[in-house]
Amino acid sequence: MIWFLFFCCVAGGCLGLDVRQSESDLITKPGDKVQISCSHDKTDYYLMLWYQRSPGNTAMTLIGYLYHKAVTMEKPYKEDFNLSGDLSGTTAKNGSLIVTLKQDHSAVYYCAASEAR
Ligand SMILES: *[C@@H]1O[C@H](CO)[C@@H](O)[C@H](O)[C@H]1NC(C)=O
Ligand SMILES: *[C@@H]1O[C@H](CO)[C@@H](O)[C@H](O)[C@H]1NC(C)=O
Repeated sequence: MIWFLFFCCVAGGCLGLDVRQSESDLITKPGDKVQISCSHDKTDYYLMLWYQRSPGNTAMTLIGYLYHKAVTMEKPYKEDFNLSGDLSGTTAKNGSLIVTLKQDHSAVYYCAASEAR
């Protein structure tokens, strides 16, 4: 298992490789559906993981991951979160995290990429 070489964080900076991200500092209200995307040029990286770091918390929690086209969500996130994207093929990768805001989901969201599980 080779873990990612970079983190892309949505409400801050990005470390490491050239990772593009959608707008940061999203301001939203309950009921909104927010999509944040993460893209990179590592064409042989078929895994994209999404993490949440809540305010005042240093730990990152795995939300779920996308492997090729398959979505796996961690249990606490199944309800309000979803992932989309297609990482199969040999083009640049682009995956999205979709959040349905029912409560305060204020947090820093990170995406990470890896070659394989
Ligand atoms: C998550 O998104 C996929 C398509 O991207 C959709 O087929 C699926 O129904 C969604 N799941 C939920 C729980 O909304
Ligand atoms: C990635 O996909 C999202 C959703 O389909 C899209 O809005 C965004 O422009 C794409 N980003 C890139 C760099 O292609």
